[in-house]
Amino acid sequence: MPRAHLTLNPAFTVGPVRRRLFGGFVEHLGRHIYDGIHEPGHPTAGPDGFRRDVVELVKELGVSTVRYPGGNFVSGYNWEDGVGPVAERPSRLDLAWHSTETNQVGLHEFQHWLDLVGSELMLAVNLGTRGPKEAVELLEYTNLPAGTARAAQRAANGREEPFRIAMWCLGNEMDGPWQLGHRDATDYGKLAAMTAKAMRQVDRELELVACGSSGRGMPTFGEWERVVLTHAYDDVDYISCHAYYQEHDGDLASFLASGVDMDAYIESVVATVDHVRTVKRSAKRVDLAFDEWNIWYMSRWQEQARTFSIDEWPVAPRLLEDRYTVADAVVLGGLLISLLNHADRVTSANLAQLVNVIAPIMTEPGGPAWRQTTFFPFSVTSRTARGDALRVLVDADETPTATFGSVPVVAAAATCAGPAISVFLQNRHLTEATTVTIDLRAFQPTGAVSAQGIWDTDVRAANDLRDPHRVGLRNNDTARLSDGLLTVELPPVSWTALTIPQATPSGES
Ligand code: AHR
Repeated sequence: MPRAHLTLNPAFTVGPVRRRLFGGFVEHLGRHIYDGIHEPGHPTAGPDGFRRDVVELVKELGVSTVRYPGGNFVSGYNWEDGVGPVAERPSRLDLAWHSTETNQVGLHEFQHWLDLVGSELMLAVNLGTRGPKEAVELLEYTNLPAGTARAAQRAANGREEPFRIAMWCLGNEMDGPWQLGHRDATDYGKLAAMTAKAMRQVDRELELVACGSSGRGMPTFGEWERVVLTHAYDDVDYISCHAYYQEHDGDLASFLASGVDMDAYIESVVATVDHVRTVKRSAKRVDLAFDEWNIWYMSRWQEQARTFSIDEWPVAPRLLEDRYTVADAVVLGGLLISLLNHADRVTSANLAQLVNVIAPIMTEPGGPAWRQTTFFPFSVTSRTARGDALRVLVDADETPTATFGSVPVVAAAATCAGPAISVFLQNRHLTEATTVTIDLRAFQPTGAVSAQGIWDTDVRAANDLRDPHRVGLRNNDTARLSDGLLTVELPPVSWTALTIPQATPSGES
């Protein structure tokens, strides 16, 4: 049986776990908004048209910041189309997703929905087909208390108080040839700097995210970040990262080790950012906003995109509705482990996306809403990863992968907040349970350990409309604590979260 030995010490920390690490993403795409979060006439919908069953699931998932309104969609979006009397709003072509956008939900409605779910708005501006002028007008509309036509327009549209949006994305995936208004790094870097400067002339307190690469596999990866930051370093607070993973050709072993790729991605972007900082002799630190990450079977979407015709521009079509398995959830748990282990530099992240579109939550029009398998590792980690991320010393057997070579059979992250220690574990072995020993002697752990996670004899099992509760969280009753050493047996292809209370929080007498 494979083995792993972990050592934790409260003095060895990575950094604070910010709530913004558990952000989500809502794009005007497919059935995300319409027939997803917003379905007037649904039995659970309020007078505002928002489904309350979905609101409850989003609250349970525990997303902090929510990025909106895109994604690729934002690069063709006129924010003005989504404000004012709903009946007078125009329908427009959504070129990114070959759909019709009815604009029945816009900024005000979305902020109202965020108030229902208790999350913060992270707004993206269109730097594809528009520029600094429109970004500043939007900011004036959202954040200026009063005294100008835009602020008065907001008040006339029902919102006297400003939205006071703190976090803004300066466009989306501008390195991608598929993006409306795609630019090279020099042009985008100058545009991002110019837009950021103009926005800060309205509101100095903003937190601004420049677009990094849309993936580590992009031909311009690395150089894109360097050039963009050479122009925009002083003007922005974050550079973004995007990563989507999928199983290729049945290679589950490599897929399970996707966190290895995410680790390398983060570490190379940090190196590039810090290189620019060194060259600029800057005292300022730019952090990473991993503002799109998930499992996405992108090849299925590429097939679908080939069938689009000029005669059909559907409203809220079924797009990117991936059905996630137990294996997908275990990979997602591994990606969360990677984010936690880099909590010092990845200070904001957004699971892409939230409802129906590559989502942890699915809905059926007129019917139920349910949790996909990937819901579980996210909700548990968001709820229990608190305080400081700890540096975990991992001494583990290895398991082979075709893509990454030999990798540790167990991936691990840990956090500590006062009396509660949480440990997150992924067993990457395809067929064997792994015994994990965790040295907690630097703490004062009590025996009341809870261990829950996700695994199944059928790693392809999933939840769907016919069987929405097929997969759920399970308790692992193998955890034993003796003399400060905790042992637990992890089933093959599994993700587990341990919560270990301390008698007296370490550091307190
Ligand atoms: O999340 C789906 C799409 O993936 C987003 O619109 C885009 O930013 C990325 O390519």
